[in-house]
Amino acid sequence: MSTDKTIVLVTGANSGIGLETIIALSKSSPNYHLLLGARSLDKGNAALAQIQSIHNNQLLSSITPIQIDVTSLPTIESTKTYLASTFGRLDVLIQNAGVIVTHPCHTLKNLRTTFETNVFGAKVVTDELTPLLQKSTNARVIYVSSEQGSITLRLDPEYPYKDVPGTEYKMSKAALNMLAACHRYDFRKWGGKVTSFNPGWCVTNLTGETGRKMRIEGGARSAEDPAKALVAILEGKRDKEAWEDSGILDLDAGVHPW
Ligand SMILES: NC(=O)c1ccc[n+]([C@@H]2O[C@H](COP(=O)([O-])OP(=O)(O)OC[C@H]3O[C@@H](n4cnc5c(N)ncnc54)[C@H](OP(=O)(O)O)[C@@H]3O)[C@@H](O)[C@H]2O)c1
Repeated sequence: MSTDKTIVLVTGANSGIGLETIIALSKSSPNYHLLLGARSLDKGNAALAQIQSIHNNQLLSSITPIQIDVTSLPTIESTKTYLASTFGRLDVLIQNAGVIVTHPCHTLKNLRTTFETNVFGAKVVTDELTPLLQKSTNARVIYVSSEQGSITLRLDPEYPYKDVPGTEYKMSKAALNMLAACHRYDFRKWGGKVTSFNPGWCVTNLTGETGRKMRIEGGARSAEDPAKALVAILEGKRDKEAWEDSGILDLDAGVHPW
């Protein structure tokens, strides 16, 4: 299927920030074809059914669920095959899939689980899909990271969130930020654009049901806020901050230091 629409793949899009991003992009314009990435097709189809039941007459862009588990090479390869045979390219890759380990376990297990998704998965997915991004005239990759991965903020005594726990998660997002920096450097050679994005502290399923309640009680933001920011970024409203300034792009404005 040859198409003039912008082909956007969002990983981890059956929940939280990824789900809201699909909804916000679809409502914003008819000019996208949105691929709702989920670990299983059942989850992807359930998410699409939920979106359609709530927002159906406001959806302008088409949405297709797609199975992609960023820790599973076969699902990454089947995504690549699907994109190649259906569109021949990929225009926007939003690497949003992420985990925090909240159950008690050994540090080594925590590190392996966290890095497997947040770092190794992100690197492998982009590397596998790069030949398809290179077929786009406006290729963009956005890594949904976190200011918690900022080494500079970690050591800033004035940083308001310095006591948030989670060394393993912070380490993974610092590594993801380095991945974004390396890919920005490499992709410039052929015209691709890359950024690392801080979505803010949001009410999502990232830390389970208890975490969700804690987030609501603690005043966390709606996941619609980073979704709106991602729409603005794709609409070209924050080009200098997103693709040129050095740092972690904040959902509201400017960049955080690496
Ligand atoms: N919420 C915040 O306050 C916050 C702050 C800073 C950064 N972030 C980042 O934002 C991103 C989205 O998280 P969220 O807050 O929206 O949490 P969420 O509601 O838990 O969404 C995370 C998504 O990632 C998916 N996922 C997990 N492991 C995966 C894998 N191996 N392959 C594919 N998908 C996988 C989840 O799928 P399942 O439903 O199957 O588990 C889910 O769809 C994450 O990268 C997170 O680190 C969030």
